Amino acid sequence: MIKKRENKKIDTYILGVETSCDDTCASVVVNGRDILSNVSASQNDIHKKYGGIVPEVASRRHIEMIDTVIQEALEQSRTGLEEIDAVSVTNRPGLIGSLLVGVCAAKAISFVLDKPLIAVNHLEAHLYSNLLVNPGVQGGFLGLVVSGGHTSLYKVGKDWNIEEIGHTVDDAAGEAFDKIARYLGLGYPGGLIIDRMAKKGDEKLVEFPRPMIENGNFNFSFSGLKTAVIYRIKKDKSLTVGKNMWHLIAGFQLAIVDVLVRKTVSAAKKHNIKKIFISGGVAANSRLRKEFLKEGRENKIEIYAPPLFLCTDNAPMVACLGYHRFKRGLVDNLDIDVYSRSDL
Ligand code: KG4
Ligand code: ZN
Repeated sequence: MIKKRENKKIDTYILGVETSCDDTCASVVVNGRDILSNVSASQNDIHKKYGGIVPEVASRRHIEMIDTVIQEALEQSRTGLEEIDAVSVTNRPGLIGSLLVGVCAAKAISFVLDKPLIAVNHLEAHLYSNLLVNPGVQGGFLGLVVSGGHTSLYKVGKDWNIEEIGHTVDDAAGEAFDKIARYLGLGYPGGLIIDRMAKKGDEKLVEFPRPMIENGNFNFSFSGLKTAVIYRIKKDKSLTVGKNMWHLIAGFQLAIVDVLVRKTVSAAKKHNIKKIFISGGVAANSRLRKEFLKEGRENKIEIYAPPLFLCTDNAPMVACLGYHRFKRGLVDNLDIDVYSRSDL
């Protein structure tokens, strides 16, 4: 992955810092596409005993890890801090205590070295993860950000202006995966565990409702689906025994995949858009990727999905978006704040 800088004078080096949730991440990216380093300290082992993220625990762990992670990202990229052209950091949306750690570190670097600071939106950064692997791709696409905290659909214009056309009205898709995994005692993060386990099951044997699949708008809802799974198990306990568990989980996953793919593709058709970007942790789901590719082929829509390591939270996507803002002169001041909620 590591490439050596070719021309120090014309290349733009961005240090990306991401701490919006439970991963402490830093990365050095050149020209918005060459990932020189990608360091991530996962907190999965810490949070899995609670079956979900505990915000106070997350922020304390970020404080312990942030210096080491940034140092490691610089060392792996063989880049000195003085060679960085700007620091890009996620300041919204996310857990306040977590965001603060990354933003304070980025501000300190920016202040001490007198380098520009760029504050970026985490959801927009997820969309840009596709640009890291397809640097030449033009705007003019439909973007689905589907993660533990968000399920949102965006219309992105040729000039990369972003308009939200749909969002979840309750749980995010990743949240539904995580809650069902927790209910079944499978562990955390639920999406990844369910993805693996569902491969062994028959997804047609246990059928679940497809919430809001044809309700005429592009909003989502996954809370009712979660309740449907729990009711079904309460009625028939044998569903969680042996192979039945695999079938149950495969059926649940297919319901989520079906809703996400059908609604996104029908939005693309309605808006006459021929390109779809998927991104966010749930975009790592193997069944979702397969279904999007199939629907894309059938409807002549190009599907862009980042490699798995760029689906879940990562710093290269923050550096990539930072690069594009930097090139357009969109830099920030040291008085930037953090925000738990922020729409695009
Ligand atoms: O983007 P992300 O790392 O963090 C947020 O911004 O929320 O997404 C985390 C979410 C979790 O809910 C996790 O269960 C889900 O992504 N996830 C998956 C898979 N890998 C991670 N969901 C479905 N299938 C996967 N393979
Ligand atoms: Zn995310």
